[in-house]
Amino acid sequence: MNRTRRLRKTHSLRNLVRETKLQVEDFIYPLFIEEGKNIETEIVSMPGIKRFSLDRISKELDEVVALDIQAVLLFGIPTHKDAEGTETWNEKGIMQEAIRFIKKNYPSLTVITDVCFCEYTNHGHCGIIFDNDVDNDSTLTNIQKQVLSHVKAGADMVAPSGMMDGTIEAIRSVLDENNFVNTPIMAYSVKYASAFYGPFRDAADSAPAFGDRRTYQMDPANRNEALVEATYDDMEGADILMVKPALSYLDIIRDLKNSFDKPIAAYNVSGEYAMVKAAAAKGWIDGERIMMESLLSMKRAGASLIITYWAKDAARVLKK
Ligand code: PBG
Repeated sequence: MNRTRRLRKTHSLRNLVRETKLQVEDFIYPLFIEEGKNIETEIVSMPGIKRFSLDRISKELDEVVALDIQAVLLFGIPTHKDAEGTETWNEKGIMQEAIRFIKKNYPSLTVITDVCFCEYTNHGHCGIIFDNDVDNDSTLTNIQKQVLSHVKAGADMVAPSGMMDGTIEAIRSVLDENNFVNTPIMAYSVKYASAFYGPFRDAADSAPAFGDRRTYQMDPANRNEALVEATYDDMEGADILMVKPALSYLDIIRDLKNSFDKPIAAYNVSGEYAMVKAAAAKGWIDGERIMMESLLSMKRAGASLIITYWAKDAARVLKK
């Protein structure tokens, strides 16, 4: 008889035939860095995740390094916001200061920056507004300014998340022209207009003041279009292709994995984290097991990098 149970009989047999294994090197940990002093604010909808000012962040970074997490994804929260988000390319801005601080004090960490405007504009949209919508091509010019200032401050990698067309080409060209030929781009290639970003918008203070992001982020109903988006980013020179959110979009992660030979990243977003934390706090689920099973499913679907607020928690479990 065919017996698939033979290889499930013992712990060591199961270990021998396990197809997917999580490791701490898979994780990228997002950090919210707020301009100001003495800030360490817990984000209510994301228990365990805080906004830090730079003078309070060392404890967090010490923990990250002690847990062998190798990479962080930075989000800046500035005090000054305006219509264009000009603070994004201020060489003394919070993002730029954070990059310099981390590269100086934690040189082993790979510093990736989220390249966007929504935390920096007074309307909360991801670019310049024209006629009640984000204007694609003028936003690209500002993206180039922002990226250049991030890499000049020392960023190791940039991750544009605004979903403007032509972003990767615009970034690759400005990087190459300025001798940053070896700086990789992790493209938020397939980013859906998702309710799963809710808690993040509290965390980053980036909710749109009017309308929504459906004219630039993707329709959750679309699967073929994900391949179109990823193909353009691939052709324009993206080094890593990301799918976001992760859990409701595992099919898309697998589609990209099957179609591209570049590394695929999954963004395990704020709402996915919040749901598990909330249900676990009520005692309705085993939060730790669900965390590990969720992360495993992203890797099994085809992601080799996982951006996750669980990075520290999961690293602790892996160390046990
Ligand atoms: C945009 C950005 C967003 C997230 C990462 N980058 C929010 C948005 O598009 O509204 C969401 C991340 C999360 O929910 O964890 N700068």
